[in-house]
Amino acid sequence: MHYRIAQIGGDGIGPEVIAEAVRVLGAAQGDGLRFTFEEAEVGAALFQRTGEDLPRESVELCRAVDAILFGAAGLPDVRHADGTELTPQITLRMVLDLYAGMRPIKLYPGVPSPLAMPEGQKIDYVILRENTEGLFASLGGGSKVGEELAVDTLVITRKGTERVVRRAFETSRSRGGAPGDGVKRVTCVDKANVFRSYAFFRQVFQETARDYPDVRTDLAYIDAMTMYVVQAPWRYDVVVLENMFGDILSDLGAATVGGLGMGPSGDIGDRYALFQPSHGSAPDIAGKGVANPIATILSAAMMCRWLGAQHRDPVVTRLSDRIDTAVARALTDPRARTRDIGGTATTRCCTDAVIEAL
Ligand code: NAI
Ligand code: MG
Repeated sequence: MHYRIAQIGGDGIGPEVIAEAVRVLGAAQGDGLRFTFEEAEVGAALFQRTGEDLPRESVELCRAVDAILFGAAGLPDVRHADGTELTPQITLRMVLDLYAGMRPIKLYPGVPSPLAMPEGQKIDYVILRENTEGLFASLGGGSKVGEELAVDTLVITRKGTERVVRRAFETSRSRGGAPGDGVKRVTCVDKANVFRSYAFFRQVFQETARDYPDVRTDLAYIDAMTMYVVQAPWRYDVVVLENMFGDILSDLGAATVGGLGMGPSGDIGDRYALFQPSHGSAPDIAGKGVANPIATILSAAMMCRWLGAQHRDPVVTRLSDRIDTAVARALTDPRARTRDIGGTATTRCCTDAVIEAL
């Protein structure tokens, strides 16, 4: 099979980490599998140059290819007059209807966690962040009244909630359950005790859950959940939640498994899918060659899994597992780890170790 991939570096460390994921996929070709990469421009630096952060040609390319690999976009110093940043990555989720923000939180052997993990326990769960509505429905639509008041609106729809909840249950079915007890479990996280919108999210979750009697359901409020994932992350299998809560909880989760450099993600719709690390453009380390490429390499592995399912292609599915195994193997060697996960490796050396293991 031959897959066409849109390669969008974006800003800051985005192009650096994307180049590494492309190198891994390039090295893995063969066995009838081939990738071609087509570059598209997106981001804050592009906006500074041209006045556009998400040109039409880039969106069209995203629609034409088999999948999208994305680095990061946005620079803190490049802002609209209202104080917000350029966020083409969020616009793309809306435009391509990439409603399921899938963010695996997995601790790899050898990678230091700030948590004191009991012997034998593992962290391996998946956050399903609703990606197209919630508080982010207000994108570009909030209002500021004079100099005294500003409002953004949180939107929950039945359709938007049901489809991401279904994705959460299907994800649980495809996994081996929570590492702590092996139980397939979907945890709905909300603030249903206070807000009607979140009570409705929970209601739709519970109605949809009836179609998945083989998967256990679980409920938590977002505030308590930030404590639970620190105290006992092995309890969790799949977690589903509103956009803004998912944005925040997934960074907290990433911190428990080595930081944002270890957090891959897939923004997945029914038709299109985009894969990118959970982190941003990290201007503080851009251009230094020290960014951790693993989040992006694991995002490429997620892309392979998705392509395999879409095209019923066992070769690219197997590559997904092979990349994951290669990452796990490479990271057991401290010399392969970048400095954010306790090593001294450069971005390039870390990738070389993954390719070697592959
Ligand atoms: P950030 O994720 O870029 O960085 C947060 C911290 O994590 C920094 O200390 C950074 O050095 C570190 N970090 C991130 N990725 C790393 C990697 N691969 N290896 C080693 N260390 C890494 O978040 P921040 O600083 O809040 O935002 C920076 C810019 O990125 C902003 O303009 C923001 O809007 C944008 N952003 C874009 C996202 C996207 O494109 N999906 C997501 C989040 C932020
Ligand atoms: Mg975020």
